[in-house]
Amino acid sequence: MSKLAFIGGTGVYDPGILTDLHSEIIDTPYGKASYESGRFGDKEIIFLARHGVHHTIPPHKINYRANIYALKMLDVKAVVSTTAVGSLNPDYKAGELVLVDQFIDMTKSREGTFYDGEHYGVAHLDMTHPYCETLRQAIIRAAEEEHITLHPHGTYICTEGPRFETPAEIKAYRQWGADVVGMTNLPECVLAREAEICYSTISMVTNFAAGISDTPLSHREVVDCMNHNLESFKKIITILSRT
Ligand code: HPA
Repeated sequence: MSKLAFIGGTGVYDPGILTDLHSEIIDTPYGKASYESGRFGDKEIIFLARHGVHHTIPPHKINYRANIYALKMLDVKAVVSTTAVGSLNPDYKAGELVLVDQFIDMTKSREGTFYDGEHYGVAHLDMTHPYCETLRQAIIRAAEEEHITLHPHGTYICTEGPRFETPAEIKAYRQWGADVVGMTNLPECVLAREAEICYSTISMVTNFAAGISDTPLSHREVVDCMNHNLESFKKIITILSRT
């Protein structure tokens, strides 16, 4: 596989499979981006912790443009990202993975495009297939090989956060066809498409969304469940890194 990067979301701050890891900061026209560069065998792989290594950057303050621009500068051709999500679909349970293939964007305040009429002018990209199908198929094969429960389809609805949703919002989103809800997949997915990087997202279910679960949500619940999901993620990326 051509040069690969992993973007780790909540609970994924260390890819765990790379050697010779060193931290780097790169200047982009959109600001600085921090990442780690490491090796898997003879390949260089990039790892970027979306919220920072100590989870200090909230979803609406992530500099998505700097992050994706940095990956482009580093000649990354393919990105596997992770997102912690709540589930709206009774069949998608905590501890399971969903390889999302559609999104609904409910974000409000984010710089969401390189085509803002300035340096790159104006363009309107097709979003019929928002995620890279080649990478999706490779992930599906890797999960099968490792006997990991991975749902191959799902619609991700991205909220602005950082608060969790109300039960009324979740009820409406379910009627729209959303399967999982998170706060970070947009505009990352769109920017990667604009940068012509093959991009995929493994959503890790940590809880049933508000109103579906009868207990209030806590960040602790999300983080605890991510530790289990992390093991599955590591197995999948080990196989992807080998190819
Ligand atoms: N809502 C939004 N983001 C999330 C959730 C949720 O229920 N769980 C993990 N990230």
